[in-house]
Amino acid sequence: MLPPQVVEWRRTRWGPVGVTWKRVDEVSRIAVAGATGTLGSRIRDRLSSGGHTVVPISRSAGVDLHTGEGLAEALSGVDVVVDASNAFPTDPSADLVGTLAGATRRLLEVAEEMGVERGVVVSISNVESPAFDHVPYYVAKREQEKIVAASGLRTSMVKTTQWHEFATNPAAVTLGSEEVLVQDWLIQPVAADAVAEVVADHALDRSTPARVELAGPEQIRLPTLTRRLLSVRQDDRPVRIVPPGLPALSDGVLLAPESAEIVGPTVAEWLEVYAGHRS
Ligand SMILES: NC(=O)c1ccc[n+]([C@@H]2O[C@H](COP(=O)([O-])OP(=O)(O)OC[C@H]3O[C@@H](n4cnc5c(N)ncnc54)[C@H](OP(=O)(O)O)[C@@H]3O)[C@@H](O)[C@H]2O)c1
Repeated sequence: MLPPQVVEWRRTRWGPVGVTWKRVDEVSRIAVAGATGTLGSRIRDRLSSGGHTVVPISRSAGVDLHTGEGLAEALSGVDVVVDASNAFPTDPSADLVGTLAGATRRLLEVAEEMGVERGVVVSISNVESPAFDHVPYYVAKREQEKIVAASGLRTSMVKTTQWHEFATNPAAVTLGSEEVLVQDWLIQPVAADAVAEVVADHALDRSTPARVELAGPEQIRLPTLTRRLLSVRQDDRPVRIVPPGLPALSDGVLLAPESAEIVGPTVAEWLEVYAGHRS
C-alpha cells in the first residue's frame, strides 16, 4: 500500500501566520454529528470546501442519536466521525445526563462496529470544576468525556471555552421583546469558526494530540459581549444584567485553563467580520 500523501498547510485565518500543520489526504469520508448546529455546520463547510465527503448526522438528515435510527447506514464507509452534536432530550423532564451521554455512547459504539478509524469529540473547558458538581449539563459533558476515554475507537478531544456566538445563547441570555436579560458570566470566548478549523484539522490528521484545549485571547463579561453584538446588529434593546444562579460563573470559573492554546480572533475582529457578512 502506498504511504499516505502528506501535504503542508499553513493556518492563516484566525491563528498565528506561520504555524505549519500536516494534513493527511487519505481521509476522505467524514461523518459530522450535529452537522446543522452552530459548530457542526462550520466543520461541515470547512471539510466540504476542502474536497472531503461529509456525511451529516442529525435528525433533519434522518439520523437520530437517541434511537440509533439511520446511524449504521450513515457511518458505513466513514473514515472519521466528529461529534459536535448537542442531543438534548425532546422531553424536558427526561434524564439530561443519561440522554446526552447515551447519544455519545451510541455514536462511538456504532462507529466502532462499522469500522470507523477515529473519532473527534467536542467538549467544554472547565466542566470538571467542583463548582459544576450539581449542574446537569456539565455533569453530562463529564460523562461524555469518560465515554470517549473508554471507547475502543481512537479518539481526540477538542475542549473549548464558550464561543463568541454564546452572546445570545439561551443558557445565559433571554431575548425579550423589550429588553435582553444577560447573566453576568465572566468568559474568555473563542470564535466558533476558529474551533471548527481546529476540529477539522483533528479529523484530517492522525498525528494531532489526543486532547487540546482552546480559548480566545481576551476575557469579557457576557453582558458586554451581548451588548456589543446587539449594537452591530443595530438592535437597540437594552441589556439588563442579572446574576447567574451559580456565583462561580461571575467569578471566572470558565476562563481559559492554563493548558489552553489561545486562538484569535479578538471580539472586535470577530464583530468586524460579522458586520461585513451582514452587509
Ligand atoms: N456553545 C458553546 O459556547 C460551546 C462551547 C464549548 C463546547 N460546546 C459544545 O459543542 C457542541 C455543539 O454545540 P452547538 O452549540 O454547535 O450545538 P447546536 O447548535 O445546538 O446543534 C446541535 C446539533 O445536534 C443535532 N442533534 C440534536 N439532537 C440530535 C439527535 N437526537 N440526533 C442527531 N442529532 C441531533 C442537531 O441537529 P437536529 O436538530 O437536526 O437533530 C444539531 O445539528 C456541544 O457538545 C456543546 O456542548 C459548546
